[in-house]
Amino acid sequence: MADHLTRLREMRERALAGGGEERVRDQHAKGKLTARERLSLLVDADTFQEIGALATHAFSEFGMDRHRYPGDGVVAGFGKINGRRVALFAHDFTILGGSFSTVQSQKICRIQDLALESGIPIVGLNDSGGARIQEGVRSLAAYGESFTRNVLSSGVIPQISLVLGPCAGGAVYSPALTDFVIMTRDTSLMFLTGPEVIAATTGEQVTARELGGSMVHNARSGVAQFMADDEKAALELVKLLLSYLPQNNTEDPPQIAPWDPPDRMEEALNACIPEADNEPYDVRGVVELVCDRSSLLEVAPYYARNVVTGFARLDGFSVGVVANQPIHMAGALDIDSSDKIARFVRTCDAFNVPLVTFVDCPGYLPGVDQEHYGVIRHGAKVIFAYCEATVPKISVVLRKAMGGAYVALCSKQMRSDLAFAWPTAQIAVMGAEGAVRVLRRRDIAHSADPQAAAQDFVTEYREAFMNPYRAADTGQIDEVLEPRETRPRLIRALEVLRTKVQQNPPRKHGLMPV
Ligand code: HXC
Repeated sequence: MADHLTRLREMRERALAGGGEERVRDQHAKGKLTARERLSLLVDADTFQEIGALATHAFSEFGMDRHRYPGDGVVAGFGKINGRRVALFAHDFTILGGSFSTVQSQKICRIQDLALESGIPIVGLNDSGGARIQEGVRSLAAYGESFTRNVLSSGVIPQISLVLGPCAGGAVYSPALTDFVIMTRDTSLMFLTGPEVIAATTGEQVTARELGGSMVHNARSGVAQFMADDEKAALELVKLLLSYLPQNNTEDPPQIAPWDPPDRMEEALNACIPEADNEPYDVRGVVELVCDRSSLLEVAPYYARNVVTGFARLDGFSVGVVANQPIHMAGALDIDSSDKIARFVRTCDAFNVPLVTFVDCPGYLPGVDQEHYGVIRHGAKVIFAYCEATVPKISVVLRKAMGGAYVALCSKQMRSDLAFAWPTAQIAVMGAEGAVRVLRRRDIAHSADPQAAAQDFVTEYREAFMNPYRAADTGQIDEVLEPRETRPRLIRALEVLRTKVQQNPPRKHGLMPV
């Protein structure tokens, strides 16, 4: 027995050593942690159970017999985060650059199956040079196996990807198929083809960071939803994000002990909308005053900043917040913000997170580029996502709710449960200046004083439409609230809606205009 134990211990030690001391030093020199260091920061102490630690590839081509490392470039297993069960895998960049092999795939797929069958979230810590070149088509097929599992798990269990180093080629697609991608500010990269290949094929000169750095994917491409200052912050973010989500789509997100009185009336809300109706204000201030203090976790804060999406809490319960942001593009909807809203609404719906929408939107953004790049198709996704969502849905019109934006942003016809408005709400087909051009163009042209005639119309139009009372009169708004009442009213409404049951017609799946 002693010999057996000695052999096992030696093998385990080899597995723990990863690619060896020199590679570990290189990894640290690049400002990165090793796979095992990352996992030990993420999971609760003594809860990580590894699988496949001794698995090794069986290739000898291209000198691969010299590169047999136990574990083959990935650490996989299951453990607990803040007491909740999760499945995990972490690429080990010190072994052949964490490149994706047949054995890696077998281990990751095993963990993906286990997560799906057990109904627990899966967290992937990515740091990989992509398909292991020496394994040829086998490594490509291996990727396909894992992607299939990403897709089948989508909307069933939360899937979170951290990108903690370079992720090249196939290594980007598994994160892209998951629900949330977190990148580190300075050390993560994502690209399909690197700068050298691009220079050779298109002649474009670009650095790796300019091509696929964290800011590119957070602010421009929309591939990533979060950027953390460093690896530790990224790992902490995973814990926080999980706290808003259920284990799977059959469960509700956990309630955490409330720390903010549910009946708190917030006087500051009564003064937060500026007097001039085109004056901007930061809608995050409204969300923060309404929701439990310090509970807002913005999702995709750098992308399409004309809308805020994020998780927050009301009386300790998780809610998904969508809010137009007047300090960016006056809060108008465009292609990117439509995509951002649709994705977030569907994520909340999949994981039973009720939606609260704060509306202050002058409408869809006019422009040739917007029309040509498909604002119609992308804008339709907002309507699709809201209509399809069966979670509790409440809207609060803060100020402008114009035209298509009024309808799309969780109006009653989007099957919302309750529609509130503040006294500052303006609900109309379009703004006064636009309406005057359409309805009074001829009259004004023939008037002795066109400017005064236009002004008269604007005054009349504003009097009629720039308030919430017509909408309340027709039942499109359920209640006009004093802003300070918003928090208690939302909490009470969500309490009633907690047992809401609503179903969509049976079908294979809808055809969202993607
Ligand atoms: C095998 C790889 C590898 C790979 C890196 N390595 N990528 N081995 N297959 N794909 C090895 C390197 O040879 C090196 O080994 C070690 O990992 C560390 O790599 P370095 O280049 O020294 O590290 P660094 O300077 O940090 O650069 C990391 C990198 C770079 C940016 C990821 O290695 C790189 O560009 N790799 C190739 C990326 C790529 O083109 N992948 C294939 C994409 S095709 P030694 O022993 O020399 O230290 C693909 C298709 C899948 O993935 C499609 C599915 C849909």
